[in-house]
Amino acid sequence: MVSLLSIGLRWGMQLLALVFLFYFSASTNSEGLRINQTFTPGELWWDNEGTHINAHGGGILYHDHTYYWFGEHKTAGRGGNTALVGVQVYASRDLLNWSNEGVALSVVDEAGHDIERGAVIERPKVVYNESTGKFVMWFHLELKGQGYIAARAGVAVAEEVTGPYTFIESLRPNAQHWPVNMDADFKNQDVDLDQYEWWTPRWRKAVDEGLFVRRDFEGGQMSRDMTVFVDDDGKAYHVFSSEENLTIHIAELSDDYLSHTGRYIRIFPGGHNEAPALFKHEGRYYMITSGCTGWDPNAARSAMATSIWGPWEMLGNPCVGEGADLTFHSQSTFVLPVAGKEGAFIFMGDRWRPRNPIDGRYVWLPIKFEGHKPVIEWHEEWDLSVFDE
Ligand code: DGJ
Repeated sequence: MVSLLSIGLRWGMQLLALVFLFYFSASTNSEGLRINQTFTPGELWWDNEGTHINAHGGGILYHDHTYYWFGEHKTAGRGGNTALVGVQVYASRDLLNWSNEGVALSVVDEAGHDIERGAVIERPKVVYNESTGKFVMWFHLELKGQGYIAARAGVAVAEEVTGPYTFIESLRPNAQHWPVNMDADFKNQDVDLDQYEWWTPRWRKAVDEGLFVRRDFEGGQMSRDMTVFVDDDGKAYHVFSSEENLTIHIAELSDDYLSHTGRYIRIFPGGHNEAPALFKHEGRYYMITSGCTGWDPNAARSAMATSIWGPWEMLGNPCVGEGADLTFHSQSTFVLPVAGKEGAFIFMGDRWRPRNPIDGRYVWLPIKFEGHKPVIEWHEEWDLSVFDE
Protein backbone atom coordinates (compact mmCIF):
# COMPACT_ATOMS: atom_id res chain seq x y z
CA MET A 1 0.00 0.00 0.00
CA VAL A 2 2.75 2.43 1.13
CA SER A 3 4.97 1.58 -1.83
CA LEU A 4 2.04 2.03 -4.26
CA LEU A 5 1.43 5.47 -2.77
CA SER A 6 5.09 6.46 -3.03
CA ILE A 7 5.28 5.28 -6.67
CA GLY A 8 2.18 7.33 -7.42
CA LEU A 9 3.68 10.36 -5.69
CA ARG A 10 6.99 10.00 -7.51
CA TRP A 11 5.23 9.76 -10.89
CA GLY A 12 3.09 12.73 -10.01
CA MET A 13 6.13 14.82 -9.06
CA GLN A 14 7.94 13.85 -12.25
CA LEU A 15 4.93 14.78 -14.34
CA LEU A 16 4.65 18.15 -12.59
CA ALA A 17 8.35 18.83 -13.13
CA LEU A 18 8.00 18.01 -16.83
CA VAL A 19 4.99 20.31 -17.24
CA PHE A 20 6.84 23.08 -15.35
CA LEU A 21 9.97 22.65 -17.48
CA PHE A 22 8.03 22.55 -20.74
CA TYR A 23 5.94 25.59 -19.86
CA PHE A 24 8.80 27.80 -18.77
CA SER A 25 11.42 26.76 -21.30
CA ALA A 26 8.96 27.08 -24.18
CA SER A 27 7.22 30.29 -23.18
CA THR A 28 9.53 32.69 -21.37
CA ASN A 29 12.95 34.14 -22.17
CA SER A 30 15.90 34.77 -19.85
CA GLU A 31 14.31 38.03 -18.67
CA GLY A 32 11.16 36.15 -17.74
CA LEU A 33 9.19 37.70 -20.60
CA ARG A 34 6.60 35.53 -22.23
CA ILE A 35 7.52 34.18 -25.68
CA ASN A 36 4.82 33.23 -28.17
CA GLN A 37 5.77 31.09 -31.12
CA THR A 38 2.48 30.58 -32.94
CA PHE A 39 -0.88 32.24 -33.52
CA THR A 40 -3.62 30.37 -31.70
CA PRO A 41 -6.93 31.85 -32.91
CA GLY A 42 -9.62 32.07 -30.27
CA GLU A 43 -7.31 31.27 -27.32
CA LEU A 44 -6.06 33.73 -24.71
CA TRP A 45 -3.29 35.84 -26.28
CA TRP A 46 -0.57 36.86 -23.87
CA ASP A 47 1.44 40.04 -24.07
CA ASN A 48 5.06 39.68 -22.99
CA GLU A 49 4.11 40.19 -19.34
CA GLY A 50 1.64 37.32 -19.47
CA THR A 51 -1.59 39.36 -19.60
CA HIS A 52 -4.30 38.71 -22.19
CA ILE A 53 -3.99 41.40 -24.90
CA ASN A 54 -6.63 44.10 -24.53
CA ALA A 55 -6.99 45.63 -28.02
CA HIS A 56 -10.36 44.65 -29.42
CA GLY A 57 -11.86 45.82 -32.73
CA GLY A 58 -8.34 46.85 -33.53
CA GLY A 59 -6.10 47.78 -36.39
CA ILE A 60 -2.37 47.69 -36.97
CA LEU A 61 0.05 50.33 -38.20
CA TYR A 62 3.47 49.20 -39.40
CA HIS A 63 5.93 51.99 -38.71
CA ASP A 64 9.75 52.02 -38.41
CA HIS A 65 10.02 48.22 -38.58
CA THR A 66 7.51 47.78 -35.77
CA TYR A 67 3.86 46.78 -35.75
CA TYR A 68 1.59 48.89 -33.52
CA TRP A 69 -1.71 47.27 -32.60
CA PHE A 70 -4.38 49.76 -31.49
CA GLY A 71 -7.65 48.49 -30.07
CA GLU A 72 -10.54 49.02 -27.72
CA HIS A 73 -9.54 48.64 -24.09
CA LYS A 74 -12.32 46.53 -22.55
CA THR A 75 -13.03 45.80 -18.91
CA ALA A 76 -14.84 43.00 -17.09
CA GLY A 77 -18.62 42.73 -16.93
CA ARG A 78 -21.35 44.18 -19.14
CA GLY A 79 -20.19 47.77 -18.51
CA GLY A 80 -16.91 46.85 -20.17
CA ASN A 81 -18.47 47.36 -23.59
CA THR A 82 -18.22 51.10 -23.00
CA ALA A 83 -14.94 52.98 -22.99
CA LEU A 84 -13.81 53.22 -19.38
CA VAL A 85 -10.14 53.63 -20.25
CA GLY A 86 -9.67 54.40 -23.96
CA VAL A 87 -7.66 53.02 -26.84
CA GLN A 88 -4.79 50.71 -25.93
CA VAL A 89 -1.63 50.22 -27.99
CA TYR A 90 0.82 47.29 -28.18
CA ALA A 91 4.08 47.00 -30.12
CA SER A 92 5.71 44.02 -31.78
CA ARG A 93 8.43 43.22 -34.28
CA ASP A 94 7.15 39.79 -35.22
CA LEU A 95 3.34 39.96 -34.71
CA LEU A 96 3.54 37.23 -32.05
CA ASN A 97 5.23 38.94 -29.13
CA TRP A 98 3.62 42.17 -27.95
CA SER A 99 4.63 44.73 -25.36
CA ASN A 100 1.90 46.83 -23.79
CA GLU A 101 2.65 50.48 -24.66
CA GLY A 102 -0.24 51.82 -22.59
CA VAL A 103 -3.25 53.98 -23.33
CA ALA A 104 -2.87 55.84 -26.64
CA LEU A 105 -6.11 57.81 -26.36
CA SER A 106 -7.64 58.34 -22.92
CA VAL A 107 -11.28 58.90 -22.16
CA VAL A 108 -12.03 62.24 -20.49
CA ASP A 109 -13.58 62.90 -17.09
CA GLU A 110 -15.68 65.87 -18.13
CA ALA A 111 -19.46 65.63 -18.29
CA GLY A 112 -20.73 66.12 -21.81
CA HIS A 113 -17.34 65.68 -23.47
CA ASP A 114 -17.56 63.62 -26.68
CA ILE A 115 -15.16 61.01 -25.32
CA GLU A 116 -16.37 61.15 -21.75
CA ARG A 117 -15.64 57.99 -19.75
CA GLY A 118 -18.55 55.63 -20.50
CA ALA A 119 -18.95 56.67 -24.15
CA VAL A 120 -18.58 53.94 -26.77
CA ILE A 121 -15.25 54.02 -28.61
CA GLU A 122 -14.94 51.25 -31.16
CA ARG A 123 -12.71 50.04 -33.98
CA PRO A 124 -9.87 52.61 -33.67
CA LYS A 125 -7.56 52.77 -36.69
CA VAL A 126 -4.30 54.71 -36.81
CA VAL A 127 -2.51 55.89 -39.94
CA TYR A 128 0.68 57.86 -40.44
CA ASN A 129 0.63 61.00 -42.54
CA GLU A 130 3.93 61.32 -44.43
CA SER A 131 3.47 65.00 -45.22
CA THR A 132 2.58 66.24 -41.73
CA GLY A 133 4.63 63.62 -39.87
CA LYS A 134 1.63 63.05 -37.55
CA PHE A 135 -0.25 59.95 -36.50
CA VAL A 136 -3.99 60.16 -37.01
CA MET A 137 -6.53 57.98 -35.22
CA TRP A 138 -10.13 57.58 -36.42
CA PHE A 139 -12.70 55.64 -34.42
CA HIS A 140 -16.40 54.97 -34.13
CA LEU A 141 -17.91 57.08 -31.36
CA GLU A 142 -21.23 56.80 -29.57
CA LEU A 143 -21.94 59.50 -27.02
CA LYS A 144 -22.31 58.48 -23.40
CA GLY A 145 -25.74 57.24 -22.41
CA GLN A 146 -27.17 57.38 -25.92
CA GLY A 147 -26.83 53.77 -27.02
CA TYR A 148 -25.87 53.64 -30.68
CA ILE A 149 -27.92 56.64 -31.81
CA ALA A 150 -25.14 59.19 -32.36
CA ALA A 151 -23.35 57.15 -35.07
CA ARG A 152 -20.33 59.47 -35.23
CA ALA A 153 -16.68 59.26 -36.21
CA GLY A 154 -14.02 60.64 -33.90
CA VAL A 155 -10.55 61.83 -34.84
CA ALA A 156 -7.43 62.31 -32.73
CA VAL A 157 -3.82 63.15 -33.52
CA ALA A 158 -0.39 62.48 -32.03
CA GLU A 159 3.26 63.36 -32.59
CA GLU A 160 4.45 59.94 -31.44
CA VAL A 161 3.02 56.67 -32.65
CA THR A 162 2.09 55.40 -29.19
CA GLY A 163 0.55 58.74 -28.25
CA PRO A 164 -0.73 60.45 -26.29
CA TYR A 165 -3.39 61.17 -28.91
CA THR A 166 -5.22 64.48 -28.64
CA PHE A 167 -8.91 64.34 -29.42
CA ILE A 168 -9.85 66.83 -32.13
CA GLU A 169 -13.56 66.35 -32.81
CA SER A 170 -16.34 63.95 -33.61
CA LEU A 171 -18.73 64.32 -36.50
CA ARG A 172 -21.05 62.75 -38.99
CA PRO A 173 -19.10 62.80 -42.25
CA ASN A 174 -19.81 64.59 -45.49
CA ALA A 175 -22.55 66.99 -44.41
CA GLN A 176 -24.06 68.76 -47.43
CA HIS A 177 -22.33 66.54 -49.95
CA TRP A 178 -24.03 64.07 -52.25
CA PRO A 179 -22.30 60.78 -52.99
CA VAL A 180 -20.35 60.72 -56.24
CA ASN A 181 -22.20 57.63 -57.45
CA MET A 182 -25.74 58.75 -56.66
CA ASP A 183 -28.02 59.16 -59.61
CA ALA A 184 -28.57 62.86 -60.29
CA ASP A 185 -32.31 62.20 -60.62
CA PHE A 186 -32.52 61.09 -57.00
CA LYS A 187 -30.66 63.98 -55.46
CA ASN A 188 -33.35 66.58 -55.67
CA GLN A 189 -36.42 64.38 -55.36
CA ASP A 190 -38.99 65.50 -52.87
CA VAL A 191 -39.39 62.35 -50.76
CA ASP A 192 -41.89 61.83 -47.98
CA LEU A 193 -39.76 59.83 -45.55
CA ASP A 194 -42.85 58.50 -43.77
CA GLN A 195 -44.26 56.71 -46.77
CA TYR A 196 -41.86 53.79 -46.51
CA GLU A 197 -42.27 50.83 -44.20
CA TRP A 198 -39.56 48.62 -42.88
CA TRP A 199 -38.46 45.98 -45.39
CA THR A 200 -41.23 46.44 -47.92
CA PRO A 201 -39.93 46.22 -51.51
CA ARG A 202 -40.76 49.88 -51.87
CA TRP A 203 -38.68 50.76 -48.84
CA ARG A 204 -35.76 48.80 -50.24
CA LYS A 205 -36.02 50.74 -53.46
CA ALA A 206 -36.06 53.97 -51.47
CA VAL A 207 -32.80 52.98 -49.74
CA ASP A 208 -31.26 52.28 -53.14
CA GLU A 209 -32.34 55.69 -54.24
CA GLY A 210 -30.72 57.35 -51.25
CA LEU A 211 -33.53 57.77 -48.73
CA PHE A 212 -31.16 58.00 -45.75
CA VAL A 213 -28.51 60.01 -47.56
CA ARG A 214 -31.18 62.61 -48.17
CA ARG A 215 -32.45 62.45 -44.61
CA ASP A 216 -28.92 63.01 -43.24
CA PHE A 217 -27.74 65.39 -45.96
CA GLU A 218 -27.66 68.50 -43.77
CA GLY A 219 -26.15 67.09 -40.60
CA GLY A 220 -23.82 64.48 -42.12
CA GLN A 221 -23.96 60.77 -42.77
CA MET A 222 -24.19 58.16 -40.03
CA SER A 223 -20.86 56.48 -39.32
CA ARG A 224 -20.57 53.30 -37.23
CA ASP A 225 -18.27 50.30 -37.89
CA MET A 226 -15.26 51.64 -39.72
CA THR A 227 -11.75 51.34 -41.01
CA VAL A 228 -9.20 53.64 -42.63
CA PHE A 229 -7.25 52.60 -45.70
CA VAL A 230 -4.17 54.37 -47.11
CA ASP A 231 -3.55 53.78 -50.80
CA ASP A 232 -0.14 53.56 -52.51
CA ASP A 233 -0.43 57.20 -53.60
CA GLY A 234 -0.83 58.35 -49.99
CA LYS A 235 -4.57 59.10 -50.28
CA ALA A 236 -6.55 57.88 -47.30
CA TYR A 237 -10.15 56.69 -47.17
CA HIS A 238 -12.57 56.36 -44.30
CA VAL A 239 -14.81 53.35 -44.88
CA PHE A 240 -17.86 53.01 -42.67
CA SER A 241 -21.30 51.49 -42.18
CA SER A 242 -23.75 54.27 -42.82
CA GLU A 243 -27.46 54.75 -43.44
CA GLU A 244 -28.68 52.78 -40.38
CA ASN A 245 -25.96 50.15 -41.07
CA LEU A 246 -27.55 49.40 -44.41
CA THR A 247 -24.96 50.84 -46.77
CA ILE A 248 -21.18 51.18 -46.75
CA HIS A 249 -19.66 54.55 -47.57
CA ILE A 250 -16.12 55.00 -48.85
CA ALA A 251 -15.07 58.59 -48.18
CA GLU A 252 -11.89 60.36 -49.21
CA LEU A 253 -9.91 62.06 -46.42
CA SER A 254 -8.13 65.39 -46.76
CA ASP A 255 -4.36 65.42 -47.40
CA ASP A 256 -3.66 65.71 -43.66
CA TYR A 257 -6.14 62.83 -42.98
CA LEU A 258 -7.97 64.95 -40.40
CA SER A 259 -11.21 65.64 -42.28
CA HIS A 260 -13.37 64.46 -45.16
CA THR A 261 -13.13 66.05 -48.60
CA GLY A 262 -16.82 65.55 -49.34
CA ARG A 263 -16.05 63.04 -52.10
CA TYR A 264 -17.59 59.65 -51.31
CA ILE A 265 -19.43 56.70 -52.77
CA ARG A 266 -22.09 54.37 -51.43
CA ILE A 267 -21.66 50.67 -52.02
CA PHE A 268 -24.13 47.79 -51.70
CA PRO A 269 -27.14 49.95 -50.70
CA GLY A 270 -29.37 47.99 -48.34
CA GLY A 271 -26.71 45.25 -48.13
CA HIS A 272 -26.44 45.42 -44.32
CA ASN A 273 -22.64 45.31 -44.12
CA GLU A 274 -20.65 45.98 -40.94
CA ALA A 275 -17.04 45.53 -39.85
CA PRO A 276 -15.33 46.66 -43.08
CA ALA A 277 -11.67 45.77 -43.61
CA LEU A 278 -9.90 46.90 -46.77
CA PHE A 279 -6.71 45.80 -48.46
CA LYS A 280 -5.03 45.97 -51.85
CA HIS A 281 -3.41 43.14 -53.73
CA GLU A 282 -1.95 43.20 -57.24
CA GLY A 283 -3.68 46.48 -58.03
CA ARG A 284 -7.12 45.30 -56.87
CA TYR A 285 -9.01 46.53 -53.82
CA TYR A 286 -10.59 43.95 -51.54
CA MET A 287 -13.05 44.42 -48.74
CA ILE A 288 -14.15 41.95 -46.09
CA THR A 289 -17.30 42.74 -44.14
CA SER A 290 -19.82 40.98 -41.91
CA GLY A 291 -23.58 41.04 -41.74
CA CYS A 292 -25.33 42.83 -38.86
CA THR A 293 -26.10 40.56 -35.91
CA GLY A 294 -24.87 42.61 -32.96
CA TRP A 295 -22.10 40.84 -31.04
CA ASP A 296 -23.00 37.46 -32.53
CA PRO A 297 -20.98 36.15 -35.44
CA ASN A 298 -22.39 35.66 -38.93
CA ALA A 299 -20.98 34.75 -42.33
CA ALA A 300 -18.34 37.15 -43.67
CA ARG A 301 -18.63 38.65 -47.12
CA SER A 302 -15.93 39.78 -49.54
CA ALA A 303 -15.89 42.23 -52.41
CA MET A 304 -13.43 43.43 -55.02
CA ALA A 305 -12.92 46.49 -57.21
CA THR A 306 -10.24 47.66 -59.62
CA SER A 307 -10.75 51.27 -58.50
CA ILE A 308 -11.53 52.34 -54.95
CA TRP A 309 -14.36 54.38 -56.50
CA GLY A 310 -15.95 51.18 -57.75
CA PRO A 311 -17.76 49.46 -59.18
CA TRP A 312 -17.48 46.97 -56.32
CA GLU A 313 -18.33 43.37 -57.00
CA MET A 314 -19.49 40.97 -54.29
CA LEU A 315 -17.39 37.78 -54.14
CA GLY A 316 -19.27 35.92 -51.41
CA ASN A 317 -18.04 34.38 -48.18
CA PRO A 318 -14.23 34.25 -48.13
CA CYS A 319 -14.26 31.62 -45.36
CA VAL A 320 -14.23 27.95 -46.25
CA GLY A 321 -14.55 24.70 -44.29
CA GLU A 322 -16.12 23.97 -40.93
CA GLY A 323 -17.11 27.16 -39.12
CA ALA A 324 -17.11 29.25 -42.30
CA ASP A 325 -20.79 30.13 -41.89
CA LEU A 326 -19.93 32.03 -38.68
CA THR A 327 -16.50 33.35 -39.74
CA PHE A 328 -15.03 30.82 -37.26
CA HIS A 329 -16.96 32.60 -34.50
CA SER A 330 -15.51 36.01 -35.25
CA GLN A 331 -16.14 39.32 -36.98
CA SER A 332 -13.66 41.15 -39.21
CA THR A 333 -11.84 44.21 -37.95
CA PHE A 334 -8.73 44.60 -40.13
CA VAL A 335 -6.66 42.96 -42.81
CA LEU A 336 -2.95 43.30 -42.20
CA PRO A 337 -0.37 43.16 -45.01
CA VAL A 338 2.64 41.31 -43.56
CA ALA A 339 5.72 43.52 -43.94
CA GLY A 340 8.27 42.20 -46.38
CA LYS A 341 6.10 39.30 -47.58
CA GLU A 342 4.52 40.18 -50.90
CA GLY A 343 0.93 38.92 -51.11
CA ALA A 344 0.80 37.85 -47.43
CA PHE A 345 -2.29 39.17 -45.62
CA ILE A 346 -3.71 38.36 -42.20
CA PHE A 347 -7.44 38.45 -41.54
CA MET A 348 -7.96 39.93 -38.07
CA GLY A 349 -11.29 39.20 -36.39
CA ASP A 350 -12.82 39.57 -32.96
CA ARG A 351 -14.60 36.87 -31.04
CA TRP A 352 -16.69 39.14 -28.86
CA ARG A 353 -17.64 38.27 -25.29
CA PRO A 354 -20.25 40.97 -24.59
CA ARG A 355 -20.99 39.70 -21.06
CA ASN A 356 -17.32 39.91 -20.15
CA PRO A 357 -15.71 41.98 -22.91
CA ILE A 358 -12.18 41.85 -21.51
CA ASP A 359 -12.24 38.14 -22.29
CA GLY A 360 -12.91 38.77 -26.01
CA ARG A 361 -10.60 36.71 -28.22
CA TYR A 362 -8.69 37.32 -31.43
CA VAL A 363 -9.11 35.24 -34.54
CA TRP A 364 -6.25 35.92 -36.91
CA LEU A 365 -5.99 33.73 -39.99
CA PRO A 366 -3.91 33.80 -43.17
CA ILE A 367 -5.62 34.90 -46.36
CA LYS A 368 -4.86 32.96 -49.53
CA PHE A 369 -6.04 33.76 -53.04
CA GLU A 370 -7.82 31.48 -55.44
CA GLY A 371 -7.49 33.48 -58.63
CA HIS A 372 -8.80 36.88 -57.56
CA LYS A 373 -10.84 35.57 -54.64
CA PRO A 374 -9.56 35.82 -51.05
CA VAL A 375 -9.95 32.57 -49.12
CA ILE A 376 -9.73 32.07 -45.36
CA GLU A 377 -9.40 28.65 -43.75
CA TRP A 378 -9.35 27.74 -40.08
CA HIS A 379 -5.96 26.99 -38.50
CA GLU A 380 -5.81 25.79 -34.92
CA GLU A 381 -2.25 27.03 -34.67
CA TRP A 382 -0.03 28.65 -37.29
CA ASP A 383 2.88 30.97 -37.97
CA LEU A 384 4.07 33.19 -40.81
CA SER A 385 5.72 30.26 -42.59
CA VAL A 386 2.27 29.39 -44.01
CA PHE A 387 2.89 32.19 -46.48
CA ASP A 388 6.01 30.41 -47.77
CA GLU A 389 4.10 27.26 -48.76
C1 DGJ B 1 -21.33 44.93 -34.14
C2 DGJ B 1 -20.17 45.82 -34.40
O1 DGJ B 1 -19.39 45.29 -35.40
C3 DGJ B 1 -19.37 46.02 -33.13
O2 DGJ B 1 -18.26 46.82 -33.39
C4 DGJ B 1 -20.30 46.60 -32.11
O3 DGJ B 1 -20.69 47.87 -32.54
C5 DGJ B 1 -21.50 45.71 -31.91
N1 DGJ B 1 -22.18 45.51 -33.17
C6 DGJ B 1 -22.48 46.30 -30.93
O4 DGJ B 1 -23.62 45.51 -30.87
